[in-house]
Amino acid sequence: MAEVDVVIMAAGKGTRMKSKLPKVLHTLAGRALLAHVVDTASSLLPRNVVVITGHGATEVEAALPGYICDGAEFSVNFARQEPQLGTGHAVQQALPFLPDDAGVVLVLSGDVPLTQVDTLRQLVAASGGDKLALLTLELPNPTGYGRIERNGEGGGDAVQAIVEHKDATEAQRAIREIYSGIMAAPAARLRTWLARLDNKNAQSEYYLTDIVKMAVADGVPVVAHKITDEVQVAGVNSPVQLAELERAYQRQQAVALMEQGVRLADPARLDLRGSLVCGQDVSIDVNCVFEGTVTLGEGVKIGANCVIANATIAAGVVVHPFTHIDGEKAGVTVGADARIGPFARLRPGARLGTDVHIGNFVEVKNSTLGAGAKANHLAYLGDATVGARVNFGAGSITANYDGVNKHRTVIGDDVHVGSNCVLVAPITLGAGGTVGGGSTLTKDAPEGVLSVARGRQVAIANWKRPVKKV
Ligand code: UD1
Ligand code: CA
Repeated sequence: MAEVDVVIMAAGKGTRMKSKLPKVLHTLAGRALLAHVVDTASSLLPRNVVVITGHGATEVEAALPGYICDGAEFSVNFARQEPQLGTGHAVQQALPFLPDDAGVVLVLSGDVPLTQVDTLRQLVAASGGDKLALLTLELPNPTGYGRIERNGEGGGDAVQAIVEHKDATEAQRAIREIYSGIMAAPAARLRTWLARLDNKNAQSEYYLTDIVKMAVADGVPVVAHKITDEVQVAGVNSPVQLAELERAYQRQQAVALMEQGVRLADPARLDLRGSLVCGQDVSIDVNCVFEGTVTLGEGVKIGANCVIANATIAAGVVVHPFTHIDGEKAGVTVGADARIGPFARLRPGARLGTDVHIGNFVEVKNSTLGAGAKANHLAYLGDATVGARVNFGAGSITANYDGVNKHRTVIGDDVHVGSNCVLVAPITLGAGGTVGGGSTLTKDAPEGVLSVARGRQVAIANWKRPVKKV
């Protein structure tokens, strides 16, 4: 395959989004539209990716590196287009970054997020470095799009031109084959065609699509690569279109998961914003959201209404409804056969061993829990190292924060912490000990002892309740 350079047009305003955020930074499945396009382009291993920015350029340029630069084998360049004089003018801005050789220039739009890599590969192959290849599609309602005009002087169906809707005659408007906005052009030819563009048309713009006529005049073959899948070329111009594409994309992901054997209670009520890797026999109930990188081991069951991000959940784990797990950067790991929720919260650095039970309204942050440890009700474990089989009572917390610094709590194996205890960190509880309910411990507890730190109960006889004064 010929060498490829990619130009992504992203300078337009996106007025219909009615948003302060530049259109291409609106997200689909949790990622900017433009990041989807750059990702797809990167799969072609291009030499260069040039993003044309204009409206919101500073914001768009600042948003991109975090998405794509690490590990990529190509460089992303930005070319500013100010003012925006049309798609032909946009591609002109990229020329300084494009080698003037036998390569192919692939033109994409930053607001068309769901084109498949294979489609682009086929388009580049159709160009082959010496032909102009257009991605086209037949639409029942082609209003607004550029039409593919095929019938030349001598009849036949060779492509002759693209006619923009606003410039088209009634007869041309009846053509249902439209230009998708995606093309692959021979680099050296493209350069000469762009130099010859004018803006003598209904919109006084420099139309990229005018290069088709020039190719025909120069004897360069124009091939239309026609596809039938509208989603691949659908652009986002409004919140309604964005939501429609989001649903289409989520449907694709849900189908892919089900094809791998994952049981989804309702594919329409799953949202995956990142990657989800599942072992065999995973089942996911309705209204679950997965973000970042999530791994679910064999036989994991996720209850309804869970939000799970950046977590590795081992085989056999049951996550009950309404659980929120977010590992952020540090991640969360849940050991095999653990039981989490309902209404549990696992935060960054939660490392749960096998068979751990975390119940309702329990929060765990930056803490390691040994095998079989349990915190079943209303508890907080932060910056703690908790041994195996520890039972952490209802309403008990680690007081890990003194207002300035965070401190660790270390709880040995088999410790039993009663209800409503406050463990003021830094503190270590020796293995096998017991903490009496309602204690506030500020000192280390030796192994095996009962620690009690609370007011003693006293019995006051003949005490009189106050009575209302008359
Ligand atoms: C364009 C095509 C049309 C095609 C349609 C598919 C032209 C002249 N027409 O029309 O044949 O059917 O796409 O959606 O190319 N942009 C810039 N700078 C500009 C103008 C546009 O970067 O000066 C960017 C936009 O941000 C957008 C893309 O180019 O990402 C397409 O622009 P848009 O205005 O949507 O083109 P259409 O008029 O829809
Ligand atoms: Ca458009």
